[in-house]
Amino acid sequence: MESPNKKKQVQRIFDSISYKYDFLNHLLSAGVDFYWRKKAIKFSSMDENTILLDIACGTGDFAITAKKFGVKKIFGADLSFNMLSLFNNKADWIKGKTTECVAEFLPFKNESFTNITVAFGVRNFYDIPTAFNEFRRVLVNKGKATVLEFRLPENLIIKKLYLFYFKNILPLVGKFISKDPEAYTYLPESVEEFDKKVDLKKIFFDCGFNDVKKYSLTLGLVQVIVASK
Ligand SMILES: C[S@@+](CC[C@H](N)C(=O)[O-])C[C@H]1O[C@@H](n2cnc3c(N)ncnc32)[C@H](O)[C@@H]1O
Repeated sequence: MESPNKKKQVQRIFDSISYKYDFLNHLLSAGVDFYWRKKAIKFSSMDENTILLDIACGTGDFAITAKKFGVKKIFGADLSFNMLSLFNNKADWIKGKTTECVAEFLPFKNESFTNITVAFGVRNFYDIPTAFNEFRRVLVNKGKATVLEFRLPENLIIKKLYLFYFKNILPLVGKFISKDPEAYTYLPESVEEFDKKVDLKKIFFDCGFNDVKKYSLTLGLVQVIVASK
């Protein structure tokens, strides 16, 4: 899809489903999403000295997990005003600051953060290499970018079950609860297309990151990439 169209479509979807997002997210993943975010933060070795920029932060679930790991300085960035409003409702507890912006153009100075995280957001970016170049620019030397994203499992039986769930059950439940006809059909379509076309590890290397590690979680349903500047 062409970039400006994709940006507008993604913004519309997340502005529309924001108030149902947390509920649907935890329901449709049976709560496993909490575990995935924890593992992603463990792989990124964060502590109280971390200065974290959580991109595509949505309603703040990754930021909350980071806070539980002792991270004190947390910044959230997202293109959806409504998702950010919900993050801001939780911000007293997170003690985080939010910025409405796109990952492809970050309004931050060079070398401002020790860590960047993106959970279930990269698939929606309209230009991943431009975003990763921006990540590199705003990270300090040896800073880490961590991406948590869906992928298609390699095992054929699990892949079939996964696609059945993604194409038949998830859109029905998602549409019924969110009342948005497009949002939860876009998710399976984008996961399949993404998995076929995008090699995140390669893009990180191409954008000048040095050490790039890839982890697979829960029978290969999701991937975590940790890339060091
Ligand atoms: C599936 S939600 C994930 C939210 C959160 N990270 C989580 O783990 O629950 C994806 C988020 O990415 C945001 N997003 C999509 N494309 C973006 C872009 N190009 N720049 C910034 N945010 C973007 C959406 O607005 C949405 O809030």
